[in-house]
Amino acid sequence: MNLDFSQIVPYIPFMLEGIWVTLKFVSASIVIGFIIGTLLALCKITKIPVLKVIADIYTSIFRGTPLILQLMIFYFAVPQLTGYDIEPFSSAILAFGLNSAAYVSEIIRAGIMAVDKGQTEAAQALGVPYKSMMANIILPQAIKNILPALMNEFITLTKESAIVSVIGYLDIMRRAQIVGADIYRNFEPLLFAGVIYWLMVYVLTQLGKVVERRMRYSD
Ligand code: ARG
Repeated sequence: MNLDFSQIVPYIPFMLEGIWVTLKFVSASIVIGFIIGTLLALCKITKIPVLKVIADIYTSIFRGTPLILQLMIFYFAVPQLTGYDIEPFSSAILAFGLNSAAYVSEIIRAGIMAVDKGQTEAAQALGVPYKSMMANIILPQAIKNILPALMNEFITLTKESAIVSVIGYLDIMRRAQIVGADIYRNFEPLLFAGVIYWLMVYVLTQLGKVVERRMRYSD
């Protein structure tokens, strides 16, 4: 076996910096995806047909095409139309945020539909306005039930983030490739990157468990 981890030691700070780069755009994408996803879910359950159609078309496009393609369109193709270059960071949060919104909207829609109809009826009978019924009664119950599904989505985004290496964004994955090319050995840096991703997902999973436990407490 030809393994020599001592060679990557000088590169460890360089690779660790990638954690911050990855975390930065993944967390921004999660927030964007969650906000747009919630709005889309609300559009999907309204009685206004045009909103429903728009939200369905949105989901169909962003879920029906590869994320790597969407990312490359934002980074390489949009500047051709607009004449302005776009930063790797901006294209990454656009592609990941908009893509995630499609998935999140379906998760939240399922969550809302699973909340007992009696909750809506009781709120309406008491004259609670639609906005506050959604924000204070329906969504909090929906979110609690879909927490595991949302966690899955956040984990997927964290791992899929590795594809930003194709637009030259210096995330963990890209850094591992650069180190590999520099020292002519790929196994060690890739294994190191793998451990970092695994740890990030592990921490995220634990955080999810804490939030879930808290929410159950409030029952
Ligand atoms: N590899 C899949 C694709 O390219 C992942 C999509 C991202 N998934 C997600 N849950 N946001 O379509």
